[in-house]
Amino acid sequence: MDISLPKVYDPYCTTPADLTRKKLELLELKNGDILYDLGCGNAHTLIDAFTFAQVKGIGYEIVPEAIKDAKDNIVKAGLTGKIEIRIQDFYDAHFSDANAIVVYLSRSVLGALSLKLEKELKAGTRIVTHQFDIPGWTAEKEVDFLQTSGVIERIFLYRKE
Ligand SMILES: C[S@@+](CC[C@H](N)C(=O)[O-])C[C@H]1O[C@@H](n2cnc3c(N)ncnc32)[C@H](O)[C@@H]1O
Repeated sequence: MDISLPKVYDPYCTTPADLTRKKLELLELKNGDILYDLGCGNAHTLIDAFTFAQVKGIGYEIVPEAIKDAKDNIVKAGLTGKIEIRIQDFYDAHFSDANAIVVYLSRSVLGALSLKLEKELKAGTRIVTHQFDIPGWTAEKEVDFLQTSGVIERIFLYRKE
């Protein structure tokens, strides 16, 4: 019996740069890590990750405008070949090789993805989200981050057991 939740889709928007930087800092990326951004938008998070470590960046995206922006930004950043954009629904992807995952998705999408993450991620994989937690999961760390805009946003860091 399939007990997964219905698929839900979030729109294309972009996390502010300072908040992105804080999320990446919490992931404690290391050289050689495989980092996924599920719904990578314009790929700015995967690009910024190279400030921290030499990772293999993989972004899933399905909105044509975002895919074009992501590809353009990767070329501009000189990271062609280091970041891969997969034009594919992340509900159909496999994440078993991930060391770290970064997302900005609504709670309903995180809920729909949670069983898949539970099944596929290897122990020790770090996941960072903001604004919305993963339903039913216990965060290792919760950080209230004051953005330069003056808005405080909560960041959740998880580690797969
Ligand atoms: C809230 S935006 C976040 C973008 C980026 N990660 C950031 O933080 O700036 C969510 C992104 O997920 C993409 N998305 C939503 N559902 C998706 C799915 N099922 N598969 C792939 N991408 C998806 C949207 O097109 C959108 O660009």
